[in-house]
Amino acid sequence: IGLSKFVDELPIPPVLQPRWKNKFYTYYEVNMTEFKQSLHKELNDTTVWGYEGSYPGPTIEVNSGEIVFIKWMNDLPDKHLFPIDYTVHGAGMEVPEVRTVVHLHGACVEWESDGYPEAWFTKGFQQVGPYFRKQIYRYDNCNSACTLWYHDHALGITRLNIYAGLAGFYFIRDQRERLLNLPCGKYEIPLMLQDRSLNKDGSLFYPKQPDSPVPELETSIIPEFFGNTIVVNGKVHPFLKVEPRKYRFRLLNGSNSRFFRIKLDSGQLLYQIATDSGFMEYPIGVKEILLAPAERAEIIIDFANLEDKHIIMINDAPTPFPTGAPPDEDTGTVMQFSVTLPLSSVDTSVIPANMAPFPQINEQLSSNSRYLTLNDNRDQYGREFMLLDNKEWGAPISENPKLGSTEIWYLINLTGDSHPIHLHLIDFQIIDRRNFDVDKYNKEGVIHYTSPAIPPEPQERGWKDTVRANPEQVTRIIMKFGPFTGLYVWHCHILEHEDYEMMRPYIIVR
Ligand code: C2O
Ligand code: CU
Repeated sequence: IGLSKFVDELPIPPVLQPRWKNKFYTYYEVNMTEFKQSLHKELNDTTVWGYEGSYPGPTIEVNSGEIVFIKWMNDLPDKHLFPIDYTVHGAGMEVPEVRTVVHLHGACVEWESDGYPEAWFTKGFQQVGPYFRKQIYRYDNCNSACTLWYHDHALGITRLNIYAGLAGFYFIRDQRERLLNLPCGKYEIPLMLQDRSLNKDGSLFYPKQPDSPVPELETSIIPEFFGNTIVVNGKVHPFLKVEPRKYRFRLLNGSNSRFFRIKLDSGQLLYQIATDSGFMEYPIGVKEILLAPAERAEIIIDFANLEDKHIIMINDAPTPFPTGAPPDEDTGTVMQFSVTLPLSSVDTSVIPANMAPFPQINEQLSSNSRYLTLNDNRDQYGREFMLLDNKEWGAPISENPKLGSTEIWYLINLTGDSHPIHLHLIDFQIIDRRNFDVDKYNKEGVIHYTSPAIPPEPQERGWKDTVRANPEQVTRIIMKFGPFTGLYVWHCHILEHEDYEMMRPYIIVR
C-alpha cells in the first residue's frame, strides 16, 4: 500500500487504573467500544474495536497472588465490522452477530472466569451464551511473574473480534522479578506484533472469501489470514527512540495466522529472559526468535555504544509456516529503534546470570498419555479445515484429566502446517519432538518414528502455554492439571483454525 515506514512513534498502551483497591481485592471495569484511531499518519483514522477506548487495550498490571475482579462489559454496536460466515460453529443466524467473551491467555483461573467460548455476552449482558456464569470475573493470579495477554474468545468469531482490535497485555509481577534488577519503567516496553491489511480509506480489510471462493456462500471463512503490513501496538511500522542502554521488551505475536521470526538488521544478539509463562532459568543470547500466534518472549536488547544508529527489527518467517512464501518488503519489516536519545543516567540494570529455577517434570510422574492427532478434513463446500483428534468442537468431551494428575500429550501432526497448540489454565513443558512416518500412520494408525527425539529449542526451555506442533512430527508436552476443576478448552491458536473446528473442550475432574 506504499505507506512510509518509521514515521509514527511506537504507542505504549496506558496502564489501567483499578476502580478501587483494598488490602484484599482489586476491582477493574473494562468497556469494549468501537472508535477511531490512527494506525498511520498518512491514512485516515481507522475504525477499530478496543478495551477502554484503546487498541491494543490498556495494560493490566497485577502482583502474583493478588485477587483481582474484572467486570468486562460489551458496549459495541450490534453490527460487526467484518463479514460473518454463518456456517461456522456457533456463529449461526440464531445467535446475535456481535458477541464477546474475554479470555486471559495463560491465566490460572477458575473456569467460570476463563472466558469459555460459549460464555459470550452482548451489550449490557442482554443476551448471553449457554455457558455464561457471571458478569464479574475473578482472577487469582497464582502464576509467578510473566507476560499474559487478554483477548476475545467468542465462539465462531474470535478471528474477527481480535482482528478488530480486542487484545491487550496483562503483566503479573513478583518479588523475584524486582530483585533481578532488569531494565524497568520507561525501559520496559511491550510489543504486540500483528499483521493487518488496510484499505485506501484507512479501514481494516478482512476477506469475504478464500482465494478459491465458495459460490454458495456470500461470506466464507478463509483457511488462514495474512495481512499485507505489520503493526506494532497498533501502528504501522513505527519507530521507537531509545537511549544507548539496555531495554526489556515483552514480545507477543498477536496475529491471526502469521508467524514471526524476529531479528535485528544490526545482527546483534537478543537476550531472551522469559518464555510464555515466565522467567527462564538463565538468559540465552540468540540471533533470532520465532513466535507463533499467541507465543511470548521477553528479551533484553542492549543499545549501548550504538549512538545515532537506526536498527530495524525484521521478520523472515514464511507464510504459512514453515513451508510457505517468504515475507515481502512490507511484511518483512517490523519496526525501527533509533538510538537518538541521550543517556539520561548510568545504566545500572543487568542481564542476570540466573533468573528462576526450572524444575523439569519427571516423565515417570505421568499417570496418563494421550495420543492426539492434528488432521485435515473437507467440508460440504469442499473447504479444507483442521481437527484435533479427528473431532469437531461439538463432539463429546474426551480429554478429562484428574485434578492434580500429570499427563503427557502426544500431538501427532498429520497436516502440512505448524500449529500453535494452546491449553487453557495450565502451563506445560515441552519434552521433545520426533519425526514420524505420516503415510504409515494414516494407513495403519501406528507411530513409526523416523528420527531420534529432538529436544525443545533453547528458546522454548521454560514454562509454556502454547507450543508449535510441527508438520510430520510428534510433539510431546507434559503438565499437571490444576489447581481448579471445571470446563476449559484447548485449541490451535491460528484463529482461522480455532474458529473452524480446531478447538476442543476439556474438563478437569475431581
Ligand atoms: Cu489465547 Cu484460548 O486463547
Ligand atoms: Cu492450526
